[in-house]
Order: sequence, then C-alpha cells, then structure tokens
Amino acid sequence: MGTLDGKAAIVTGGGGLLGAEFSRALAREGARVLVNDVDAERAEAVVQKIQASGGEAVVDVRSVDSWDGAGEMVAHGLDVFGRVDTLVTCAHQTRFGAIWKLREKDYDATLDVHLKGHFACVHHASRAMVEQGSGSIVTVCSRALNGLPGVSTYAAAKGGILSATFSWALELADHGIRVNAINPAAQGDEETATRHMRWHWDFSIDKVGWTEPVPTAASVAPLVVYLACDDADWITGQVLFLSGDTLALLRHPREERFGFKPDGWSLEDLQRYFKDTVGASLEMPGMDVPRYPWYDGVKG
Ligand SMILES: NC(=O)c1ccc[n+]([C@@H]2O[C@H](COP(=O)([O-])OP(=O)(O)OC[C@H]3O[C@@H](n4cnc5c(N)ncnc54)[C@H](O)[C@@H]3O)[C@@H](O)[C@H]2O)c1
Repeated sequence: MGTLDGKAAIVTGGGGLLGAEFSRALAREGARVLVNDVDAERAEAVVQKIQASGGEAVVDVRSVDSWDGAGEMVAHGLDVFGRVDTLVTCAHQTRFGAIWKLREKDYDATLDVHLKGHFACVHHASRAMVEQGSGSIVTVCSRALNGLPGVSTYAAAKGGILSATFSWALELADHGIRVNAINPAAQGDEETATRHMRWHWDFSIDKVGWTEPVPTAASVAPLVVYLACDDADWITGQVLFLSGDTLALLRHPREERFGFKPDGWSLEDLQRYFKDTVGASLEMPGMDVPRYPWYDGVKG
C-alpha cells in the first residue's frame, strides 16, 4: 500500500533532473503519473522505469509554454486517469545574459516556459481540482528569486511564481486545494553530490549552474511526495526548501522595519532619519547573505 494509492499526478518537465525524480517518487507511493516533457525520449525513459517497477505512467510531450498545450496536457491526464490530484511544475529552460545584453526572444523564451507555463498549467489543473473539491499543486521556485546576476529573466519568473503561488493558495483554499512552492537545489551527478546543503555559492554573470557540489535531486523528492499526501492537508501558501540534510521554510516577504511620523515623511526627514531607522536594516539582494556593502554609497 502506498500513501498515494488511487491518486493521479501530472509532472511537467518530468523527463528532467528533478521532474524524473519526482515522477518516480510519486509513482513509488502509488500515484499514477503523467510525465510531461517536450523531450519525448527523456519522458519515455522515466515512464518505462516507472512501469518496470510496477507503477502506472503515461508520456505527454506537449509544451507548457502555450495555454492550449497546457490545457490539452491536463485533458490528457483526465482522459487516462479520470482525475488530477497533484500537479508539479518542473518544466524549465533558461537563457543567460546580463540585462544590458538581453534579447527580447530570451526574455520571452524564459518567461513563457516558467511564468506563463505555471499560469497555464495551474489554470487548467485547478479547474479540474475545483470540480473534484481537492488537489495539491506544487509550484517550483528557486532561491534565484532573491536576485541572481546574469539570469534576471529566470529570477523574475521565479519571483512571479512565488507571488502567484501565494495568490492561488488564497483563491483555492475554500475549494480544498492546496498550493505550495518548493525551492530546490540539486545536481544529477551522484558521485560528487554532497549530503550537507551549502548556503553560499560563487555565482557570477555568465556562469551556468552550481559552482560547488550540492545534494542529489533524489534528496528533494520526499518533500514533493509529502505535499501530495493527505497528511499535508493543512499546509498551503508556503515556500519550502529541501536539499540533502536541510529542510527550510522561506519567510513571507513582509515589511519588518517601521518608522512612524504622525505628519508623514518629508524629503528632509528621509535625508535626516532614513539611515538610522529603516536604513539600518538594508540587506544585500541575492542568494548569499553577506553584509550590506553600500553604506558609503553606490560607486560606478
Ligand atoms: N536543479 C536545481 O538545482 C534547481 C534549483 C532551483 C530551481 N530549480 C527548478 O526546478 C525545476 C526543474 O529543474 P531541473 O534542474 O530538473 O531542470 P532540467 O533542465 O533538468 O529539466 C527541465 C525539463 O523541462 C523540459 N522542458 C523544457 N521546456 C518545456 C516545455 N515548454 N514544456 C514541457 N517541458 C519542457 C526539458 O526538456 C527538461 O527535461 C525548474 O523549474 C528549475 O527552475 C532547479
């Protein structure tokens, strides 16, 4: 008996590093899985592995960057399995380039797969889930949403997915549908993978991927399975991180330092008081957490 017996899942980008692990982990717990990926070979390989282990899975090769494609993918899942209990959105591609080098087609390509892809898939899957009165949606963010030089399109898409996840969680709670995001960190090479999650990386413009080893994708999968389980029916609107030895919760972005002046703040007030009040808490953007470096001014 698996924890997800009788449930049906859709995993987009299911042939990729994380999507493949998530698909297999969901299937191991008894879910029937639609493995979506534009790379048919990758998706087929995942489906074959699931079937070889006695699980049930089907391939879907539609692109999630189109509203209709996402709709047809969800319809395919409904057709084969009769329901959709879980949606996990892993479809991914990134174009690198600092903002002054960015081309419109790079912007479109990244935002379409990530942000529009999330909207399209969640729209269609949530329609089915609203009719069912239940469902668990796991969106896929990234710590890049804190700011990642050279990949601002990707970072922006992830920030958009984060805000949308919070909104969807609020919209869908009354329908028995949960929406949470995961922030993964994973690599495919099991030989060099670490067990311990490191929190500091040397990222710089034009560098692709992790510059230091991180844990495996398999170490992230239990979180997705847990969020799909009925045990997690009280968890929604959260952004969770799991990689290797580290489980973490992302704080919701809310104002946390306040300065009050009954008559409001004039330019002179800001010039006089800003630095010692709210200004004393400025943080460096980005995935690392070093000291704020610009107290003496931003210099070219
Ligand atoms: N790997 C990490 O460390 C890491 C870190 C942070 C966030 N993420 C996020 O996790 C998700 C999965 O990442 P990954 O490392 O497994 O990526 P991956 O590149 O290994 O897999 C992505 C898969 O998506 C497929 N795909 C691309 N465009 C598609 C489309 N239009 N429709 C359907 N499928 C499409 C690709 O063919 C590929 O198989 C992404 O959202 C990524 O941003 C990954």
